[in-house]
Amino acid sequence: MASRMALRLNDVTLCLSPPIATRRCRRRAGSVRVFAVASTPSTVSTKVEDKKPFAPPREVHVQVTHSMPPQKIEIFKSLDDWARDNLLTHLKPVEKCWQPQDFLPDPASEGFHDEVKELRERAKEIPDDYLVCLVGDMITEEALPTYQTMLNTLDGVRDETGASPTAWAVWTRAWTAEENRHGDLLNKYLYLTGRVDMRQIEKTIQYLIGSGMDPRTENNPYLGFIYTSFQERATFISHGNTARHAKDYGDLKLAQICGIIASDEKRHETAYTKIVEKLFEIDPDGTVVALADMMKKKISMPAHLMFDGQDDKLFDHFSMVAQRLGVYTARDYADILEFLVNRWKVADLTGLSGEGNKAQDYLCTLASRIRKLDERAQSRAKKAGTMPFSWVYGREVQL
Ligand SMILES: [Fe+2]
Ligand SMILES: [Fe+2]
Repeated sequence: MASRMALRLNDVTLCLSPPIATRRCRRRAGSVRVFAVASTPSTVSTKVEDKKPFAPPREVHVQVTHSMPPQKIEIFKSLDDWARDNLLTHLKPVEKCWQPQDFLPDPASEGFHDEVKELRERAKEIPDDYLVCLVGDMITEEALPTYQTMLNTLDGVRDETGASPTAWAVWTRAWTAEENRHGDLLNKYLYLTGRVDMRQIEKTIQYLIGSGMDPRTENNPYLGFIYTSFQERATFISHGNTARHAKDYGDLKLAQICGIIASDEKRHETAYTKIVEKLFEIDPDGTVVALADMMKKKISMPAHLMFDGQDDKLFDHFSMVAQRLGVYTARDYADILEFLVNRWKVADLTGLSGEGNKAQDYLCTLASRIRKLDERAQSRAKKAGTMPFSWVYGREVQL
């Protein structure tokens, strides 16, 4: 069983799991930790200290910071008008936005109890493995404070005051506000189904926000916007797939919920890929090198540090269920990469430096190499075992 599980884990590791440096350095509460902090890309210092009781259960260690040369900050400052005209147009006015309440029983209405009863009847047909995927997606959305923080680590575009009037800052706040509805809606829906252990889920969210994330974007907006482009497309795909599955189980309301969230993700993907398209126009060499850098490091999933207080490999197990159900797979990872490489016309770039040419060659063949590796891993992989998930009251779920 252990070796079979390792094989399955390997194919997920290919694309879905956190960077090796992150995983290697996890420590349980009560242990002594050793960590390294890099203040510049070239200097790394280490220190040892006792683990504090409030320290996050998942920690990241070696981190590169501020890797973008300071002169390039000016590029982003000079793009503020461009961002106002080309980025903010992808936001929807609040008055025209859907709200979670539009898809949930109205607690003020006479028919509230009947509506809840119907919802629970429909949800009875939903299998546990699908619930695990939906809960994992919901927890990912609920860690939104981390993602706003991440955007505000980026040099040249961060919201310097919390209410900064720059177009970059306006975008980040409004994007966060739009995203905030996703976790709210999924959370309330799952609560009403009565099928999942809300306390365990809430604990997982608390742990996850406490741990943060390690996207390895180095305060560098080139890397940051490549990361968000990838992630918005990844969430568009996974919410689209959970919508499709919900329809198959006969829960059309849930299908509608996942579908409406997926459509937001698509709009956000359009906006973030437009920023990177602009960077390719202004600085093709720097941008192609940044894209290759992110892909070499592998795009870690935003919730890769999740923990429920019980399962030390919770994210890996959730990813395996998502992979098996086809909600988000290693193939999707390759498809997203290929989509972005085409979207940004990476193959057509000319006049690149030696490093830029190397990055271009690497990127143009990467998707097919990932697919081949995945096929090989799939053909070797035998049926994985089951795993109890605290989110569904410890019931065993096929990995
Ligand atoms: Fe979202
Ligand atoms: Fe999103």
